[in-house]
Amino acid sequence: MNLQKQIETLQKAFLEKLSQAQNSDDIEQVRIEFLSRKGKLSDLLGTLKTLPIEQKREFGPKLNALKQELEAAYEDAIASLTSKSAQSAQKNLQYFDVTAYNAEQLYGSLHPYTHVIRHVENIFISMGFQIADTPEVETEYRNFEALNIPDDHPAREMHDTFWLTIPGMLMRTHTSTAQAHGMENNKPPIAIVAPGRCYRHEATDASHDFMFMQAEGFFIGKDVTMGNLLATVKTFLQGIFQKQDLSIRVRPSYFPFVEPGVEVDMSCPFCTDGCSVCSRSKWVEICGAGLIHPNVLRCGGINPDEYSGFAFGFGLTRLVMLKYGINDIRLLSSMKVNFLKQF
Ligand code: FA5
Repeated sequence: MNLQKQIETLQKAFLEKLSQAQNSDDIEQVRIEFLSRKGKLSDLLGTLKTLPIEQKREFGPKLNALKQELEAAYEDAIASLTSKSAQSAQKNLQYFDVTAYNAEQLYGSLHPYTHVIRHVENIFISMGFQIADTPEVETEYRNFEALNIPDDHPAREMHDTFWLTIPGMLMRTHTSTAQAHGMENNKPPIAIVAPGRCYRHEATDASHDFMFMQAEGFFIGKDVTMGNLLATVKTFLQGIFQKQDLSIRVRPSYFPFVEPGVEVDMSCPFCTDGCSVCSRSKWVEICGAGLIHPNVLRCGGINPDEYSGFAFGFGLTRLVMLKYGINDIRLLSSMKVNFLKQF
C-alpha cells in the first residue's frame, strides 16, 4: 500500500474507533493502539526516514499534520467526556435531598475546651466583663517588663520561654499579657477576661504540657479591694461548678505583677471528706491572684494614686480536667476521636 493510502486508512480507523469509545477506558485503548510510543502512528512516522529525499519533502508535512489531527481529536474526546460526566453529576444533584435521613450519619462534637470557654465567658459577661482575644505571639515587653518583671528578675526563670528568632518576640508564657493590651486600649473602669493558649518550654507529664490554656481576668477602677477580687472569683467558681455552697480560702503567694499576691483554693466540688481529685485535702488550688501592682498600672498609663485593680489568672486546662475528670492533660491535644467524641 502506498504511503498516501496508509495515511488515509490510519486516519479513518482512528476516528472511527474514537467515535465508538463510550468511556475513558475505551478512549485510553484507542490512545494505546494509535498514539502510544509503540502505536500505529509511531510505526507510520518511522517509515519516513526510509524514504528518498523527494518523498520525505512530500510526506513529512502530511505525516506531521496527521499526528496533530489525531492528537487534537483525542484531546477533544477527553474534554467532551469530562463535560458529559460533569453534566450528569449535576443532573443527579438536582434530585439530591440534603434533609434525607441517613442512619450512618456521623456527628462531630465540640472540644471540651470549647464547652468550658463558652461557660467561662458567659459567666463573666453576666458580671459585666468584656471578653478579649489577645495574641499568642507577644513582645518581651508585654509578657515581662510591663508586668513588673524586668530583665534580671528571678521570676523569668519560672517561665521557661519559647523565644522566637525575631529579637524581643516570644510565645506568651501566660495570659497576663492581656493586662498590658487592656490598659493600652481602654480607660478605667476596665473589666476584661482573656482566655487563650500559653506556651512554656517544660517537660510534659500528666498535668503539664508545653502548650496549655489560661484565662486572665482583671478589673481596674476606683477603690478596688481584695474583697472585690474574692467575691468575683467565688461567684465565678459557683457558676462554673454549679454549686452554691462552695467555699474559698486564700494563701499568700508571690507574683511580681500583684501586691499583695495570693493563691485561691476552693473547697473540693467532688467530695466532703477527701477524694483523689483533691488528694484527700478537701481543697483544690484554683488560681493566682492579687491587687495589681502600681508599677503595672503606671506602665499601662494609669495613675495608681487614682485607680486600683485586681487580677487573677487560672489554668483553664486544669479547670477543664477537673470538670470532666480528665486525668491526663495530653489527651486534650491528642486528637484521639474516641476521647473527643465523649463531649
Ligand atoms: C501565672 O501564669 C500568672 N500569670 C497568674 C496570675 C495572674 C497571678 C494574675 C496573679 C494575677 P502560674 O505560673 O502559677 O501563674 O500559672 C497559672 C496556672 O497555669 C497554674 O496554676 C496552672 O494551672 C497553669 N499552668 C502553668 N504551667 C502549666 C503547664 N505547663 N501545663 C498546664 N498548666 C499550666
